[in-house]
Amino acid sequence: MIRVGIVGAAGYAGGELMRLLLGHEGVLLTNLVSRTHAGKSVSQVYPGYYGYDLPHFQELSADELADGCDVVFLASPSGTAWPLIKELISVNPDMKIIDIGSDLRLKDPLLYREWYGYTHGAPELLSESVYGLTELHAKEISDARLVANPGCYPTATILAFAPLVRFGLVSTNSIIVNALSGVSGAGRTLGQGYHFPECNENMRAYGLLRHRHIPEIEQELAASARAGGHDEVVSLNFTPHLVPLNRGILMTGYADLRYDSEGDSVFTCVNQGAGIDQDPGINCDPCINHVQGVNLDAWGLTEVYKSFYHGKKFIRILPPDQIPQTKAVAGSNYCDISVRVDGRTGRLLVMSAIDNLVKGAAGQAIQNMNLMFGEPEDRGLNLAPIWP
Ligand SMILES: NC(=O)c1ccc[n+]([C@@H]2O[C@H](COP(=O)([O-])OP(=O)(O)OC[C@H]3O[C@@H](n4cnc5c(N)ncnc54)[C@H](OP(=O)(O)O)[C@@H]3O)[C@@H](O)[C@H]2O)c1
Repeated sequence: MIRVGIVGAAGYAGGELMRLLLGHEGVLLTNLVSRTHAGKSVSQVYPGYYGYDLPHFQELSADELADGCDVVFLASPSGTAWPLIKELISVNPDMKIIDIGSDLRLKDPLLYREWYGYTHGAPELLSESVYGLTELHAKEISDARLVANPGCYPTATILAFAPLVRFGLVSTNSIIVNALSGVSGAGRTLGQGYHFPECNENMRAYGLLRHRHIPEIEQELAASARAGGHDEVVSLNFTPHLVPLNRGILMTGYADLRYDSEGDSVFTCVNQGAGIDQDPGINCDPCINHVQGVNLDAWGLTEVYKSFYHGKKFIRILPPDQIPQTKAVAGSNYCDISVRVDGRTGRLLVMSAIDNLVKGAAGQAIQNMNLMFGEPEDRGLNLAPIWP
């Protein structure tokens, strides 16, 4: 059994980890940390857990976590995780850590000052950690000790744009993203803007031009572009909105197509890149991630996405007659994606939907834990969406 500790277990992301891990037969929840609720039973904080056999919440102690756990999930605010990670690995260098917050996500430590307003005190952790977008980095995650679980908006955005930038199909300085999030994305900690009369029956944008997820999305899409041989800067316009839902993120993104959507037919292949259709001259048979002779219309691009995410069970590429929606993924680890082409403007439209607390946080963190411990990636995550 994998012995698991959760820091921030009384928060929304930590609480969702508890819920999902209770359905994972390979783990034992040993340490649930809540500084505010230490000593209380879980059901005193989350009444739905009445009758469950869970440890009581406990104080934060690096020694106890390092002693009692094989893996610790950190679900605490930005800037609080890196000192604890340093302490944990100094006490037990063999332990594995998955940070659901942002303290391991950005490779350039200076970006923390610029975007988060604090100085990152452990840049060595940034060079060691692996960005845990499972579908894109499974091999590195399997070998990792420290995993940076992606942010919720970045998960929805990067998964939707990764095939496009990897194959050089869009101009990387033309990407525009609008994303809507349910209120649980802001966490359980109270704030006036999240008070029921203020956010119910209301929608508003926030974080204009300076949302903290921008450098994370740019960093990872640039890495995807580089993996495809395109050494390009990615610059993004990103506008998040708060909408009156408990859970869910809906991302709508746009970018300029580099090929002629009416005339060009292209090949795309994770081994060979992409180009105007021709005999690529290399036989990569039996490559399963290869598409040849497709037009850059919605149906052709759908085939490109399907081949890129071939075998990735939590990514559902919807046909062009369906539209991603938050209710279709609620409570599940799915990311639904669908793509369209506007032949009139030469722009592409891509949409994605996730549950912010599952694929956007706890579910993806468990996917990563499974890989880090050699377990099947989907263990404990075979959850059908909740509808209605
Ligand atoms: N909500 C989402 O959809 C979502 C998605 C992706 C990522 N995330 C990230 O996950 C993290 C947790 O988010 P959340 O939504 O669960 O927030 P939350 O509901 O406000 O919970 C945060 C928890 O962190 C704990 N905490 C606060 N300061 C701490 C410290 N200095 N040391 C240790 N623990 C501390 C608090 O627990 P105690 O006071 O009880 O100890 C609190 O329960 C954040 O970094 C967030 O950005 C959230």
